[in-house]
Amino acid sequence: MKTDVAIIGGGPAGLLLSQLLMKAGISTVVLERQSRDYVLSRIRAGVLESGTVQLLQEAGVGARMQAEGIPHHGCLLSSDDQIIRIDFVESCGKQVMVYGQTEVTRDLYTAQDALGARILHGVADVVLHDVQSDAPFVSFTHEGQHQRLECQFIAGCDGFHGVSRPSIPAEVRREFEKVYPFGWLGILSQTPPAHEELIYANHQRGFALASMRNRNLSRYYIQVPLTDKVEDWSDAAFWDELCARLPAEVAKTLVRGASIEKSIAPLRSFVCEPMQWGRLFLCGDAAHIVPPTGAKGLNLAASDVFYLSRALKAQLLQGDGAALAQYGAEALARVWQAMRFSWSMTTMLHQFPDQSAFDLRIQRVGLETLAASAEARKLLAESYCGLPY
Ligand code: APR
Ligand code: PHB
Repeated sequence: MKTDVAIIGGGPAGLLLSQLLMKAGISTVVLERQSRDYVLSRIRAGVLESGTVQLLQEAGVGARMQAEGIPHHGCLLSSDDQIIRIDFVESCGKQVMVYGQTEVTRDLYTAQDALGARILHGVADVVLHDVQSDAPFVSFTHEGQHQRLECQFIAGCDGFHGVSRPSIPAEVRREFEKVYPFGWLGILSQTPPAHEELIYANHQRGFALASMRNRNLSRYYIQVPLTDKVEDWSDAAFWDELCARLPAEVAKTLVRGASIEKSIAPLRSFVCEPMQWGRLFLCGDAAHIVPPTGAKGLNLAASDVFYLSRALKAQLLQGDGAALAQYGAEALARVWQAMRFSWSMTTMLHQFPDQSAFDLRIQRVGLETLAASAEARKLLAESYCGLPY
């Protein structure tokens, strides 16, 4: 089996990269460990930066997003009953699109099928070979058969637990990590959202987030200790705690309902440097993880894909390798900006087990500054809506 670019991972990063390269006439093969149903069953955040929206449209997968997505011109931060609105349009002239990531992935699969993409599901034993040479290849097992995929380049889009990042020698990799001392308990309910915009709530009981997928599908989160288990939380207990943390005027009209999905996710910040090694290029969660407070996970994968697809096209179509040599540095510059924003939102809005009175004061001053300063709100809006590529 041969291709121009072997893509490990059929999540948003791998599929978007394959779509953009195939549209430029570059051949790809996507190797995905899970079934398509499994990939599409993963409930993921749903806030798309304008850059991500544009890239999806360029990839030819923007139609349903434009039809069903909800443009958001602002979001709310609350502290107890004080509410601060961040007006994206007034602050930075941008907006975001609320559209479930699962739907983005579904649209990408549909578009890839239309292009006749080679996506192999259920692959196992993926090993990257000779990534430092000019003839790398990937070995794997598929439908009981041992396979060899020869390629010119390998894109590691296989997420945090994939095999691509470890294929860069440990002595070459520098990994930066911060694990947060709490998790997010999230539920999905077929109820109208508590508010027309997202609410990020700071409260002495803990952080809460009121989000949505559409006008009758709400997504809520509350910060919980890492020791909590999903079975510790009945729906009633969740709704009570959520309402205790949201502003009273929002809580009193919030519509409760049965959870159709309930799970706890840990929070971490993680970056791997470099993002490239020989002919291997990391994209998305394979290279970095952000706490969901800044809604940057998919959006960083999109900017990685923007840089890598542009560089691979220059190399493969014009023989110009300059951008490819700079991919990792270019991607990391934007990754670290988003890493800092996600860290700052997380530390400003959550309760930390070991926080001091000083820490609480700093949180309060951070929120008071946002309430008082249009410049402070502008800076937050620019990061939330996405810095330019
Ligand atoms: N071989 C093949 N496929 C693999 C392997 C492997 N060894 N390991 C992991 N995968 C697959 C996973 O099954 C998954 O479908 O790689 C894919 C990685 O997808 P994601 O984890 O979603 O990562 P990414 O595509 O970078 O998405 C970036 O979008 O999914 C959201 O918010 C999420 O931050 C994430 C962002
Ligand atoms: C979500 O809707 O799942 C969501 C939205 C915004 C975030 C995190 C998650 O910051």
